Amino acid sequence: MSGDERTARDAVASGDALIAPDPVTAPRPLVLGIAGSPRRGGNSDTLLAAALDGAAEAGVATDTLAAAGLGLAPCRGCNTCSRTGECILSDPWRDVFERIDRVDALIVASPVYFATVPAVLKILYDRMQPYWARTHVLGHPRPARRPGAILLARSGGDPYGFDAAEATTRSVLAVLGIDVLDVLKVAGLDAGGDVAHHPEALTGARLLGSAVALEAIRRRSG
Ligand SMILES: Cc1cc2nc3c(=O)[nH]c(=O)nc-3n(C[C@H](O)[C@H](O)[C@H](O)COP(=O)(O)O)c2cc1C
Repeated sequence: MSGDERTARDAVASGDALIAPDPVTAPRPLVLGIAGSPRRGGNSDTLLAAALDGAAEAGVATDTLAAAGLGLAPCRGCNTCSRTGECILSDPWRDVFERIDRVDALIVASPVYFATVPAVLKILYDRMQPYWARTHVLGHPRPARRPGAILLARSGGDPYGFDAAEATTRSVLAVLGIDVLDVLKVAGLDAGGDVAHHPEALTGARLLGSAVALEAIRRRSG
């Protein structure tokens, strides 16, 4: 793990975060986890599951969208979306957009692949171009701000670190109107089950999920 700054998960761990509202009377926001790895059940999936467990404990509903298997084709760069706000490709992109649009918060989990994110996740990212076109070209209103966070896993051994994967993910989340509350980066993970030997990372992911959930509840209640 890295980062010396006080994070949203520190606030939860120290009890400084909001107390969760009464789960009976409060609305139940929805937190969506986007799983970016083509290796299902691997390290980033496990971190995401811990984060969503933490979120559920804090009182929200959770859902997971796995980038692998969405059946999305790569963006063609045709720029049709800059004229219409819609994608010209006839794959299930509308269903994916609907799942992303209706949630109160987003948590993205990804491994580092050649310094950035795996192709399956990058395809999803590139297909977000209509969101950018709508606000930056067509003048549509900006989306409502929502909280979110990023979980990144890598093995290490190359000099490029997490920066490119984080920047790429932040770039997409910015277009979606997501305020990134926290980024948890875990190195030293290679085999699919390695994260099980990093209990501090799993605790960190849980706290990160709780922090995102509490902020989603706060914004929904406000
Ligand atoms: C194609 C490929 C490229 C990778 N590139 C990097 C890299 O650039 N830097 C790094 O630290 N780890 C790299 N890794 C290792 C993965 O980030 C690591 O195994 C991670 O724990 C996988 O997460 P997952 O189990 O969620 O798929 C790469 C792995 C693969 C399969």
